[in-house]
Amino acid sequence: MSSGKPTILVTGGAGYIGSHTVLALKKAGYGVVILDNLVYGHRDLVERVLQVELVVGDTNDRALLDKLFTSQQFAAVMHFSAYAYVGESVSNPAKYYRNNVIGTLTLLEAMEAASIKNFVFSSTCATYGVPNQVPIPEEHSQNPINPYGATKLMVERILADFDVAYGLKSVRFRYFNAAGADPAGNLGEDHNPETHLIPLVLQTALGKRESVSIFGTDYPTADGTCIRDYIHVSDLADAHVLGLEYLLKGKDSAVFNLGNGNGFSVREVIDTAVKVTGKQIKVVECDRRAGDPPALIGSGDRARQILGWEPKYPDLDNILTHAWAWHQKRHA
Ligand SMILES: NC(=O)c1ccc[n+]([C@@H]2O[C@H](COP(=O)([O-])OP(=O)(O)OC[C@H]3O[C@@H](n4cnc5c(N)ncnc54)[C@H](O)[C@@H]3O)[C@@H](O)[C@H]2O)c1
Repeated sequence: MSSGKPTILVTGGAGYIGSHTVLALKKAGYGVVILDNLVYGHRDLVERVLQVELVVGDTNDRALLDKLFTSQQFAAVMHFSAYAYVGESVSNPAKYYRNNVIGTLTLLEAMEAASIKNFVFSSTCATYGVPNQVPIPEEHSQNPINPYGATKLMVERILADFDVAYGLKSVRFRYFNAAGADPAGNLGEDHNPETHLIPLVLQTALGKRESVSIFGTDYPTADGTCIRDYIHVSDLADAHVLGLEYLLKGKDSAVFNLGNGNGFSVREVIDTAVKVTGKQIKVVECDRRAGDPPALIGSGDRARQILGWEPKYPDLDNILTHAWAWHQKRHA
């Protein structure tokens, strides 16, 4: 099954980005075990599509981690599990620091005790805060403007310190906006509650929502709406396999942005969705939300140069076509 390649523990593997990465790891010949508490993950997708071992448990459970690490050998841990609702992180920061920071620290301590030395981490462009240049390079200052971004930055710092002290090697990926779905249509985005623009737009096209809100139409952008860098989830998954292989070759810890290097406005996303779905999508124009920068675009040059990463689906049409096929199937 694993074609001689080692087994990887994937936390949060029943979630959106984790599940697509498990698929990519399997295709590349790796063995995979998923650890997910299923608070937001989908057991049905693990059992039906991914067909790998699922350990239902929490990264805060040290006894469970110790048991897992003594019962099986893992060459690396890929750590997707976290809470990721920015608004909730503002109203309930304790929940975010406990899960995203303490949960990760617990996992890292258990890895250290088991001598597992390779770690791939899901960080975020939210660690940059409001950028003073776009596309944002990895050297850009990190000043998160919400607790969610702060939790991810804290873990990045913990990883740098664990490298110096314990030799833990990590690849820290700062994703921009994950979007799209498995091109074969077997996996996709299914967050509940949903806050991401593309699924909200497609749920409106499906008639599951009455309208989609545009927050701010007076930004200093060509059409007045916010611009974001949408990166296809299968391209993210491929980057993770490359990041893993980089670590397994014994390379040094590194940070990579995962973005396409160009952005699309909220109106461009909605217009493309109308074209792809052939449906009317009702739009409600609202005031700006606090803390939304006008444009967030990430330079993916370093990942291209060092990992040899080449996104296969950089254009919005593909991202929306794949997401639409998934949404029709999932929400039929
Ligand atoms: N979706 C994006 O656009 C985006 C952008 C930047 C960064 N990220 C980061 O990528 C990662 C994955 O995001 P996603 O969109 O796939 O989220 P998701 O909610 O779909 O997946 C996260 C998974 O982790 C599980 N989980 C949460 N806490 C856990 C814990 N303590 N123990 C075990 N399992 C736990 C959940 O049940 C879920 O299945 C997150 O760390 C997120 O912060 C996502």
